[in-house]
Amino acid sequence: MRSLLSFVVLTLGLLAAAEPVLSPYILHEKRTHIPTGWTLKRRHDPSALLPLRFALTQRNIDDIGKYLMEVSHPESEKYGKHWSASDVRDIFAPSDKTIDAVRSWLLESGVESERIRSSPTKGWIEVTSSVEEAERLLHTEYKLYGHSSGKEHVACDAYHLPAHIAPHVDFVTPSVHFDAKLTRRDSSEPARSIGQPGTGVGPKTSGKLEAAIPNDLSTCDQYITLDCLRALYGVEVTVPSSRSNSYGIVEYTRGAYLQTDLNMFFGNFSPDLYGKSPHLVSIDGGYAQTQDQGFDFNGESDLDLQYGMGLVGPSQTVTLYQVGDISEGASFNNFLDALDGSYCYYEGGDDPIQDATYPDPNEGGYKGPEACGTVTPANVISTSYGYNEADLTPFYTARQCSEYAKLGLMGITILYSSGDFGVAGHFDLCLNPDGTQTADGMIFNPTFPGTCPYVTSVGATMVPSGSSVYEPETACEEVIYSGGGFSNYFAMPDYQKTAVEYYLTHYHPDYPADIWNSTGKSRALPDISANGANYVVAVDGEFVLIYGTSCSTPVNGAIFTMINDARLAVGKSTIGFINPTIYSSAFAGAFNDITSGDNPGCGTNGYNATPGWDPVTGLGTPNFPKLLAAWLALP
Ligand SMILES: *[C@@H]1O[C@H](CO)[C@@H](O)[C@H](O)[C@H]1NC(C)=O
Repeated sequence: MRSLLSFVVLTLGLLAAAEPVLSPYILHEKRTHIPTGWTLKRRHDPSALLPLRFALTQRNIDDIGKYLMEVSHPESEKYGKHWSASDVRDIFAPSDKTIDAVRSWLLESGVESERIRSSPTKGWIEVTSSVEEAERLLHTEYKLYGHSSGKEHVACDAYHLPAHIAPHVDFVTPSVHFDAKLTRRDSSEPARSIGQPGTGVGPKTSGKLEAAIPNDLSTCDQYITLDCLRALYGVEVTVPSSRSNSYGIVEYTRGAYLQTDLNMFFGNFSPDLYGKSPHLVSIDGGYAQTQDQGFDFNGESDLDLQYGMGLVGPSQTVTLYQVGDISEGASFNNFLDALDGSYCYYEGGDDPIQDATYPDPNEGGYKGPEACGTVTPANVISTSYGYNEADLTPFYTARQCSEYAKLGLMGITILYSSGDFGVAGHFDLCLNPDGTQTADGMIFNPTFPGTCPYVTSVGATMVPSGSSVYEPETACEEVIYSGGGFSNYFAMPDYQKTAVEYYLTHYHPDYPADIWNSTGKSRALPDISANGANYVVAVDGEFVLIYGTSCSTPVNGAIFTMINDARLAVGKSTIGFINPTIYSSAFAGAFNDITSGDNPGCGTNGYNATPGWDPVTGLGTPNFPKLLAAWLALP
């Protein structure tokens, strides 16, 4: 944020108008244009009241990657010494010096101390101020803008701060930002109804399964069941279930599971789970709605829970984080706010254009307050939703990405699916040189949050037709292609340098440098993979076949949950942020290397799966006995 601001010292002539002069005022933020749909109405009324808020600069945030490596790198002395939530809050909260500097300046400028409030997380200072006073404090002019929908917004073109205050303030609201919440009725955006992140991105199905479902391993190339996965990844060892362990699966309303589907699946494949439900934790009004049914509503949740719960077994409770009500929906930020109270306001808080706002103003919407730090995070959290990186601004993704680092500091493993369109983005969209995304775009389009270096991105494989579970898998090329590639926003983290450089040196993709991020300096994904084809899933009362990284993500989540069980049972820490560990030499061979298949998209064959890491299947699929041994060998 800071680097985007241009600081220009005003002339002394202008300063003479300001009283009291504490230090020269400098430009803090400036806007170049008004976003489309908005027009200037008039100068704002001087006596109107504004909730003037100063977002204070955070301490130590530039070091977050370093802190995370200290507790996550297997060779670090502090490996596994995760932080508490209050450690995280205290280390990154603005310093007392910052808070005092802004307070004193406000006091000296005539704001009475009763009017100066600090937010509970210390990230903000808020003053209820008249427009006249705010204009004097910020050397600005407030104006009223109107939107074609009838909505009004208060903003200014530019504002200034005293030079000695500027370094303590990220930004001020209201100011140049056009972050007025437009509801779906206001905007021309299509309604986002199903699973809001990525707007309806879900797994694919090839439809109803007509054949009888086999109960042996002879047809795993056509039908994946729990037994096929156990055989593929060696999940035959039972590990003791630790009571303190937890596995979380995240779903976004209207996406919802049906208990009748879970019963149908478990009745056939895991009778000891028959009748069992996940432990539902409602966030921002989330609930397992049953009014809208169909594959688009139930497919994802049914899949994630049937395989997630099925693999960890009956003694491990699976927590279902059900996020958002039916009308307003929710985003990853709404979920993260619920897990971490220090995130709700961090770096200015959520973006009301991307993120849902509660209480929901819509009729019948959830009227409670937005969840903020009220939910305990599970040790492993699996999410099968996503965006295209290009859907979001660099600032938005950076803010969210540093939150994943904070969860990693607390010992939590975060898994996201890498997408189902190969090198293209969700919905098969590719980038154009101007940054827009279209079906005929030529430039590879990576997915987010997988491009964030602090999450583990999961791709998809398959059992090739005619092969058994004891033969090598290939990259998934049935119905979907495994998402993979190189970020355009995030730099390559150190932990994957050796692996990715090996790939770029030995198997350099033969594409023009302007259709993929060929710099060799950007975050590469996915990190790992697992089977993503032909999953037998009970949806809406029938068995269907499902494909996608939506399948492989909860499967890996279940495996890491079992590894946490084993570590917790011997008094060790959770595995936390796994990337520095899984790329380390101690874990060489702990994933089954996938060396054939590719991930087409954007009019190309995409990348190839190759020996070692590749941008199709990452390091490969889990080998549970080897992973268990390697993780138990760590402190
Ligand atoms: C490639 O990625 C790097 C780092 O992630 C970024 O700085 C650069 O702008 C990207 N290039 C393009 C063409 O987007």
